[in-house]
Amino acid sequence: MESLVEPVAQTALCIAEVDTGHADLGESEPMRPLPQLRHQQLPVEVMTLTHAEILETRTLIWPDEAACAAHAAALAKRPSLRDAFIELRGALGAGKTTFVRHLLRALGVPGRIKSPTYTVLEPYALPGLPVSHFDFYRFEDAREWEDAGFREVFAAPGLKLAEWPQKAEALLPVPDLRVQLEALDDTQRRVTLQALSPRGLELMR
Ligand SMILES: Nc1ncnc2c1ncn2[C@@H]1O[C@H](COP(=O)(O)OP(=O)(O)OP(=O)(O)O)[C@@H](O)[C@H]1O
Ligand SMILES: [Mg+2]
Repeated sequence: MESLVEPVAQTALCIAEVDTGHADLGESEPMRPLPQLRHQQLPVEVMTLTHAEILETRTLIWPDEAACAAHAAALAKRPSLRDAFIELRGALGAGKTTFVRHLLRALGVPGRIKSPTYTVLEPYALPGLPVSHFDFYRFEDAREWEDAGFREVFAAPGLKLAEWPQKAEALLPVPDLRVQLEALDDTQRRVTLQALSPRGLELMR
């Protein structure tokens, strides 16, 4: 089983090698070493990574945070957001949490919206719309996936948003939409959108 799984993980690694700007990710290496996670017994979800085909890519510029908020507000209106899984990639401070905050606010989340940097998951029970905001930056142990019930979260209906998906890549399903943020200066962001499913295409358009 191991020998079957390993090449799959390698393939997924090549597909996912889009992040820049953080030493942890070994961005200067075209093929970063496999994280420890990949050498453990991998669940069947990893097999879906072989089919992670990018259906469409779009690049846009947010000149400032207001543009980020406007994009998030527009996305919040899409019915197909309901059960979507959206990955947010980019270096520390690129704007992943900021985008999610604007999105959650537009969806009706009141009060302070915490970053899940320390908790890994912040859940929201909006009327008719469960939302799970993950930040896998500190996620290191694959057992935590089961222990914390993340498998059930991903199997259940609801919107899933994940920062630092690279840190749990072998466990995560293929996203509908991948959002890659790159800071060009203090306020300007280059945004690369990749649709990996028909739902992702709907969200991107
Ligand atoms: N156009 C923009 N879009 C998003 N954020 C912006 C923009 N311009 C400035 N910012 C600022 O950049 C910062 C982004 O921080 P944020 O916590 O969202 O980053 P992050 O990508 O989630 O980082 P981390 O990897 O640490 O979780 C915020 O202070 C935000 O106000
Ligand atoms: Mg963040």
